[in-house]
Amino acid sequence: MYKLPIVEGTENEKGIDIGKLRDESGYITLDTGYKNTGSTQSSITFLDGEKGILRYRGYPIEQLAEKSTFLEVAYLLIYGELPEKQAFENFQADVKKHQLVHEDMKQILNGFPSTAHPMGVLSSLATSLTAFFPESLDPNRSSDKVNTTIIRLMAKIPTLVAWSYTNARGIKTNYPDNKLDYVSNFLKMMFNLPTEDYEVDPVVVDAMDKIFILHADHEQNCSTSTVRIVGSSHANLYASVAAGINALWGPLHGGANQKVIEMLQNIIANGGDTKKFIDKAKDPNDPFRLMGFGHRVYKNFDPRAEILKKQTDKILEKLGVNEPEFEVAKQLEEAALKDEYFIERKLYPNVDFYSGIIMKAIGIPIDMFPVMFSIGRLPGWIAQWREMRKHNEPIGRPRQIYVGEKERPYKDMASRS
Ligand code: CMC
Repeated sequence: MYKLPIVEGTENEKGIDIGKLRDESGYITLDTGYKNTGSTQSSITFLDGEKGILRYRGYPIEQLAEKSTFLEVAYLLIYGELPEKQAFENFQADVKKHQLVHEDMKQILNGFPSTAHPMGVLSSLATSLTAFFPESLDPNRSSDKVNTTIIRLMAKIPTLVAWSYTNARGIKTNYPDNKLDYVSNFLKMMFNLPTEDYEVDPVVVDAMDKIFILHADHEQNCSTSTVRIVGSSHANLYASVAAGINALWGPLHGGANQKVIEMLQNIIANGGDTKKFIDKAKDPNDPFRLMGFGHRVYKNFDPRAEILKKQTDKILEKLGVNEPEFEVAKQLEEAALKDEYFIERKLYPNVDFYSGIIMKAIGIPIDMFPVMFSIGRLPGWIAQWREMRKHNEPIGRPRQIYVGEKERPYKDMASRS
C-alpha cells in the first residue's frame, strides 16, 4: 500500500502526484500518448473538455474573442494580466520597434526552393534567429534580456511569414509599416503588391484577429508540450519555438486546417458524395479520418469551433465570397453529427474545421493555414516556456517499459542468416 499525495487545482481538477512512486514501489505509470498524465501545474489556460470551457488566465474565450485584440491577448498570456493602457502602448511600441528583420535573412530565404512547405521554412527561419542574436543562446540570462527575445519573436515571426510568402511567389518583399496595428501590418506585408496598394479591410482584420485569439493557447497540447520539453533542456526560446512549429505541422494537430480544405476539395472533385467519405472515415480498415473532427480533450463541443462557426457565415457574407467548400462542409457536418459512429465517439467539428474556410475566403493559400496557426499559438508557446523556466522545472524525460529482446551475444556477419 502506497500513499500518494493528491494535487488539486483552482478549478477542482484532481491529480495524483506519482513523483516518488518508482523510488518507493519500483513501478512507473504507463500512459502512451499522455492521455491521462499531467506534465505540469500551470496557471495560464483552463480547459474543461466535457463542458466545452476554455479560459486564458481566467477570462472566457468567448469574451476575449468578442472584446479583445490578439496583441492584448498575447500580453495577457505572456505576462498574466490584461494590460493597463500605458503598459499596452509600451508593449505595442516595443513590438513595432523589432518588426524589421535583418536583410541577410533574405539570403537564407532565397536558398529554399519554391516547393518548400511554409512550415518547414518558418521553423528554419525561427531557428536562424539564434544566428542573428547569439546572446539568446543562454536562456538563464536576466529576465529583461529574455523579454527582448520574447518581443523579438512576437515582432519578427509575422514579418518572416510574410517574407516567405512573397519570396516563394517571386514578389518584392514588403517591410513592416509601424503606423498599422499588428494584424493589419501582417496582412499588408503579405498582400501588398508593387503594382497595387493593399487596402486593409477591417472585416478581414477582425476575422484574422479572432482566428489568432482562438488559437493563442490550449494548455498542454502536442506543440506546447514540445516547446516545454525542448526548453526544459535549457535550449533557447527561438529553438524551443521552432520545435513547437514542427510539432504543430502534423495533420493531427495544426496541419489539420490545411487537410480539412484538401478533404473538402477532394469530396467536390469526387462528385460531392459526403456519404462515401463518412463511410471511409468509419471503416476500421481505412486509415482515412474526417479532418477537422474530434479532439483529444473536447468531448462535447469545441468552444473555438462554436465561435468560428458563427463567424464563418458573417464573414463570407461581408466579403461577398461563396466558397463551394463551405456548402460541402455544412453537409458533412450535418451528416456526421447525426451518425451513430461520431455520436458514440463524441466526435464534433473542431476549430480547424471552420478556420480553413475563413482563411481561404481571405485569400491565404492552403499550405499557409498551419503557419497562421503558428502565429496565433506563438504567445501561448512563449507563455508556457516562460512559466516552465520560472518554475525551474526539471528536464523532461519520460520513462518506458522495455519490451525488446533480452540480452543476447553478438553475431558475426557470417553467422547471421
Ligand atoms: N474521423 C474518424 N474517426 C475518428 C476521428 C476522425 N476525425 N477522430 C477519432 N476517430 C475515432 C478513432 O478511429 C477511434 O475509433 P475506435 O475507438 O473505433 O478505434 C476513436 O474515434 C478515438 O480516436 P483516438 O484517435 O483514440 O482519439 P485521440 O484523442 O487520440 O485523437 C485527434 C484526437 C484530434 C488526433 C483525432 O480526433 C483526429 O485524428 N482528428 C482528425 C485530425 C484533426 O482534426 N486534428 C485537429 C485537432 S484540433 C486542433 C488542435 O488543437 O491541434
